Amino acid sequence: MASSNTHTWMVTGTSRGIGFEMTRQLIADPSNIVVATCRNPDSANALRALQADANGRLHLVALDVTDEASIRSSFNKVERILGDHGLDYLYNNAGANEGSDTAFTMTAAVATRMFQANVLGPALVAQTFLPLLEKGKRKVVVNMSSALASLGLGTVGPMYASYGISKTALNMLTHKQKSEKPDMIFIGMDPGWVKTAMGGDDAMLEPEISVSNILKVVTNLTNKDSGKFLRYTGEEVPW
Ligand SMILES: NC(=O)c1ccc[n+]([C@@H]2O[C@H](COP(=O)([O-])OP(=O)(O)OC[C@H]3O[C@@H](n4cnc5c(N)ncnc54)[C@H](OP(=O)(O)O)[C@@H]3O)[C@@H](O)[C@H]2O)c1
Repeated sequence: MASSNTHTWMVTGTSRGIGFEMTRQLIADPSNIVVATCRNPDSANALRALQADANGRLHLVALDVTDEASIRSSFNKVERILGDHGLDYLYNNAGANEGSDTAFTMTAAVATRMFQANVLGPALVAQTFLPLLEKGKRKVVVNMSSALASLGLGTVGPMYASYGISKTALNMLTHKQKSEKPDMIFIGMDPGWVKTAMGGDDAMLEPEISVSNILKVVTNLTNKDSGKFLRYTGEEVPW
């Protein structure tokens, strides 16, 4: 049963990787109600196993962030799940990286898919769920960025062009959102280099470590943080 201490979360891309681990950690806290979205909940076996142990606090909703109709049609389902609650936290985690292209090898097809998954998807999800976020107690939107989006770090190499360009555009989206809705909190998050299908086996961080740190940062955000690009450690990442 929901109480005034209840927090509501919606996390995209939860079938595996960081999104799955985030769902696992969020649901371990009995004050959280979590809407976990993924493209195919029916085949997301690990997620379904989590749901079986979550005492009705974990809800799985089908959502493909590259399909506008799928985003729009998920709204009514989520609204029904949350009932009188608004949405306290929207975590735009779903993202794609199709490979190590460069400025001189990138194709329109891949670059367009990266833009759809990593920029337009989070933009349309936030737009669609704005009425529920405005009803929420926290009004927090996290856009999952990457160190590969940062010009200021001075580490940009030629690889991952489509992906890096799309995540830099996502950072600009975060700023646009912040400037249009000053009473809400929008941040970009760099989760570190994490061992997932995308990060690979050589990555530095276990998902548990990245996610437990991210959740500390995100649950302590205040309005002064809106528009920042933060690392999972809470440090600011240079743009
Ligand atoms: N791992 C890293 O080192 C790292 C570093 C920086 C940033 N990130 C970012 O962190 C986020 C999570 O990455 P990850 O490492 O956990 O990657 P992952 O293991 O590849 O998982 C990506 C997730 O996104 C979902 N997804 C992909 N395309 C989607 C779409 N069109 N619609 C809905 N869901 C979609 C996948 O769901 P399906 O099962 O449906 O494919 C999956 O659940 C991404 O935004 C990524 O860019 C990761």
